[in-house]
Amino acid sequence: MNSLSKPARWAVITGASDGIGRAFAVELAARNWGCVLVARRGDMLEALADELGANRCLILPLDLADPGATDLLAHATADLPVELLVAAAGFGTSGPLAGAAREDELTMIDVNCRAVTAQVHLFAGRMAAQGRGGIILFSSLVAFQGVPRSANYAATKAYIQTLAEGLRPELKPYGVNVLSVAPGPIASGFAARAGLTMGMSQTPDVVAKAALAALGKTTTVKPGWLAKLLITSLGFLPRWGRTLVVGQIMAGMTKGKAGA
Ligand SMILES: NC(=O)c1ccc[n+]([C@@H]2O[C@H](COP(=O)([O-])OP(=O)(O)OC[C@H]3O[C@@H](n4cnc5c(N)ncnc54)[C@H](OP(=O)(O)O)[C@@H]3O)[C@@H](O)[C@H]2O)c1
Repeated sequence: MNSLSKPARWAVITGASDGIGRAFAVELAARNWGCVLVARRGDMLEALADELGANRCLILPLDLADPGATDLLAHATADLPVELLVAAAGFGTSGPLAGAAREDELTMIDVNCRAVTAQVHLFAGRMAAQGRGGIILFSSLVAFQGVPRSANYAATKAYIQTLAEGLRPELKPYGVNVLSVAPGPIASGFAARAGLTMGMSQTPDVVAKAALAALGKTTTVKPGWLAKLLITSLGFLPRWGRTLVVGQIMAGMTKGKAGA
């Protein structure tokens, strides 16, 4: 890499091969950030790096379900001035938990919670030491109540929401901002992997733009008009009522799926 063209600030973006993580990479590269692109599909990361400019990207094809992945990430970024973590890698499942493949459900906890906690631990320490930084975590509208037919996924997102709320005041004195992003339905690879059919949705760039604008200003952002509409409609209900309504929405989204 030519040192003259090397970006001064770097972001680590997990889940950069698709959807929301990819949209963050596009948005950050346009703002002159260097991007460490992490996901399993190295071919998609390479294509993205070609699009953004190879001199501003470092590609790290990693399976974040692997307990050693954070050590590899730590090693690969040791000499980079990382100022932002966008921990977007994650996936969901749908259908009753009792009928689901146990390994998939446990891997989801590994990717959505365990790996994110390890990344936060790594970069929060480094950012606090350098006196500045930002950490963007991915919750969801499903994080704010239990969700039948997505019970484990919703629980992983509740974990992230709670983690972000606690971390923000911990890290603020060190100049490190923490943001929880709680999107509504977003058109990405997410629905196909989760076995869901989305009716209305918004595009991933809406999430990236809103989150970057909200970082440092608030604890949680619900990006886009659709998320705001849904949260406002549900906001009048008690928690058990939200579980009932969101369960009905999930039933519609998993209609026709075997075992759902
Ligand atoms: N889309 C929505 O409606 C929605 C709503 C609320 C919250 N969210 C959250 O937003 C985040 C991003 O989702 P998305 O919509 O962008 O989904 P997506 O398009 O399916 O992208 C998910 C990303 O995570 C990566 N990933 C999945 N498993 C991985 C693993 N084991 N190791 C490394 N990378 C892995 C995928 O890359 P590889 O497959 O190449 O590994 C991909 O880049 C997730 O945390 C999701 O829970 C999404």
